[in-house]
Formats: sequence, structure tokens, C-alpha cells
Amino acid sequence: MKTITTAFIGVGGRGYGLLQGVLEMMEDVRVIGVCDLFGDRAAKAADAVEEKTGIRPLETTDYHEILALSGLDCVMITNSWESHIPIAIEAMKAGIRPGVEVGAAYSIEQLWNLVHTYEETKVPCMLLENCCYDRNEMMIMNMIDQGVFGELVHCEGGYRHDLRDEISHGRENRHYRNANYRHRNTENYPTHELGPIAQMLRIGHGNRMVKLVSQSSCARGLNEYNRKDQGKDGDQAEYRFVQGDVTTTIITCAHGETITLTLDTTLPRFYSRGLVIQGTKGMYEEDNHSIWLDGLYEESETFRWRKHWGNADDYREKYEHPVWKSFLNEGVRGGHGGMDYLVDRAFFDSVRDQTDPPIDVYDMASWMSIGVLAEQSILQGGAPVMIPDFTNGKWFQPYNIPKED
Ligand SMILES: NC(=O)c1ccc[n+]([C@@H]2O[C@H](COP(=O)([O-])OP(=O)(O)OC[C@H]3O[C@@H](n4cnc5c(N)ncnc54)[C@H](O)[C@@H]3O)[C@@H](O)[C@H]2O)c1
Repeated sequence: MKTITTAFIGVGGRGYGLLQGVLEMMEDVRVIGVCDLFGDRAAKAADAVEEKTGIRPLETTDYHEILALSGLDCVMITNSWESHIPIAIEAMKAGIRPGVEVGAAYSIEQLWNLVHTYEETKVPCMLLENCCYDRNEMMIMNMIDQGVFGELVHCEGGYRHDLRDEISHGRENRHYRNANYRHRNTENYPTHELGPIAQMLRIGHGNRMVKLVSQSSCARGLNEYNRKDQGKDGDQAEYRFVQGDVTTTIITCAHGETITLTLDTTLPRFYSRGLVIQGTKGMYEEDNHSIWLDGLYEESETFRWRKHWGNADDYREKYEHPVWKSFLNEGVRGGHGGMDYLVDRAFFDSVRDQTDPPIDVYDMASWMSIGVLAEQSILQGGAPVMIPDFTNGKWFQPYNIPKED
């Protein structure tokens, strides 16, 4: 088996966790460099590599030294949101395949630069959107592929995660989210829910997102939290955070399908990506883990639906995604219920086999663009904003001419 060389740029919470996953579970991947702006984090990561392999990797606070490493096949960009795209572009220019952690973009221009860099260098770039590999999402995707829900009409998803502690303590914990919530009001984390939905709606492959509108609520959650946490005289108790507590974005697709995204990270709540799929033959709803198929239940039961709540597991035997069937047989491993392993494995496999990654630069640009465009819409009072076609027309493949033998 060919050994792949990689390096990590950004070894805070996520980068260090993924690094450990690679060291423990990816025998064909060798980590030859680690980088973080904070020297202590880079050193801790280098210690972990040395302890596991006996070889100390390059340890640096300057990512340029990582990109200059000789023989580096790919790089894991696991740093904070603001520098994902600039570093990915530099990596592609250096001939190194980037795997980029999730987040949203800060300008449409930087996304075009990303796409143009790929088109000029032909070095593929993958967004490491682990939620595309979650067991539930993949089963629903399989059911959609098999036509169980009919033609999809509307989808919903959200990043609904109580992050009040992480955001509030961002300064002392050296975490980037605090600054983002002070200065920016947008759908700042769209891809966890949008990634799977975009795949279900074939975005980039016969469909595309054409426009959106977005609105944010007022911002109160962090103040309430900080009044308890810091006391009423604490500097965040009354601070006017710019990021609204709940941001709702409605996207319209080329054939009229709609997607509602919800960002909900600063109020007390349970975790949920709130996936809802509605097609002409049925629906799935994550929060009650239920599937409703037309004609399968008595009409009168429409009003006694609680009877069927939680029934989605009944569909597992028939519709478990093949990727998950094998994963369950081999033994599920890795963080976030196994999806971290699956997404990283898919990335490293594409690097080893020199194939296109399953989540490519066009997916990445369109999914990440929502962060910029929702910000524009909110600033204009919820006005419609057009979503660029980063494929320049390739999404509908106009000349699908069969190859001659
Ligand atoms: N997919 C998931 O389930 C998941 C989970 C958690 C975090 N994440 C993502 O992972 C990324 C990192 O999140 P985190 O929670 O680890 O944040 P973190 O703040 O703990 O770590 C980020 C690290 O990147 C470093 N960094 C920033 N800019 C850098 C640069 N130019 N060069 C080198 N190092 C740099 C910072 O010093 C910091 O140590 C984010 O994009 C986040 O959204 C994804």
C-alpha cells in the first residue's frame, strides 16, 4: 500500500483530534509536519507524532514551511475559519492537495480565486465535510437515490448547537469564534447541514442554488449567559454582539426546490442538525427520527403521527447506505460516531489514487458562499441575493455525448 505523506496546519481542538485519529487509525498515512500559530500547540502535536511513530515531524508556527516540505502529498487545513481558503490556494499552487476543515467564506472573490486556482493547477481540493458521512444522512441519501421520497421539493437543516461556553471563553481559550460573533452577522456555519442536502438535491450535478434570503434575530443569548458566568459587571454581560442568536436562510434552487438553513448557537438547546426532507412521495424528519411515506399509513393516522415517531430505524435493514454497511461490518471507529474517519479516509484515498475528491472545489465554493451571501442579505434587510454559478454552466452538462468505443 502506498504511503501518503501529510501535515497539519492548525492543531487546536479539531486539528489535534484529527491528528490523533490519523496516528491511531490510518496506517498508510505519515505525518511529516505540524504547524500552529501558537508554538505550544505545535509542540504538543509534534510530541504526539513522535510518541506514536518515533520520528519527530517538522514543527513550526509558519505554514509556509509546511508547504515547502519536500514530498508532501497533501495537507490538512484544520485552522480557524479566516485562513482556510488563502492557505488552500497556496497549497494548490505548491502542488499539494488540501483537505480543508469546514467553515464559511468571507468574500465571493476568494471563492473565485479558489476555483480558478484549481482550474489552473488541476490540483484537487476537498472540503472535509464529515456530516456528509453521517449514518442517518447517508441512509436518507440512499433512499432518495432509490426514489423512495419521490421528487424532492423542500429540505431543511441547521447547525443547532449551544456554543455559548466556547464563544464566551474564546479570548482566554484562544478560540476564533468570539471575534466572529462580535463583528459579523450571518449564517456562519452552513456546510454541516447544507453539505448533505446539496448532495441530496444534486447541487453541481444537474441542479444549482440560485438565490437566497436571510434574516437574523436579535442577539441576547450570550449576554444572558455571561451575566451568569461573569457577573453583571463582566465585559460581555451587556456587550452588543453583532451575530444574531438565530439566523434563518432560505435558498431557492434552479428547479424551484427550497432549502431552509438555521444557525442557532447562542441559546440553550439540544444539539440537532434538524434535517427535514420533503418529496412528492414522503418525508424524513431528524428531530423525531421519523419517516412518513405516502399511502403506507391510514389517512386518519396523519393526525396521530406520534405513533410513528422514531420509526426511521425500521428502514435500516433495507436502506442502510453501502458505505455504512461495510463500516459496520469492519467496526465503526473515529470521532463523531465514525463520520470523521470516513471523511478523512475518503480524502486520503483520493490522494493515494489520484482521483477527484468526493467533495470538490465547486461543492466547496458554493456551500461556503452562503456565509458571504447571507451576510449581504441580512445587511439589506433580508433582500434576495444571487448565488454565483462557480461551475460556469458545467452543472447541467449540456453536451452529454456518449463516448465512442
Ligand atoms: N467537522 C467538525 O465536526 C468540526 C468540529 C470542530 C471544529 N471544526 C472546524 O475545525 C476548524 C478548527 O476549529 P477548532 O475548534 O480546532 O479551533 P481552535 O481555535 O481550537 O484551533 C484552530 C487553530 O488554528 C490555528 N491557526 C489559525 N490560523 C493559523 C495559521 N494561519 N497558521 C497556523 N495555525 C493557525 C490557531 O492558532 C488554533 O490553534 C474550524 O474550521 C472548525 O469549524 C470542525
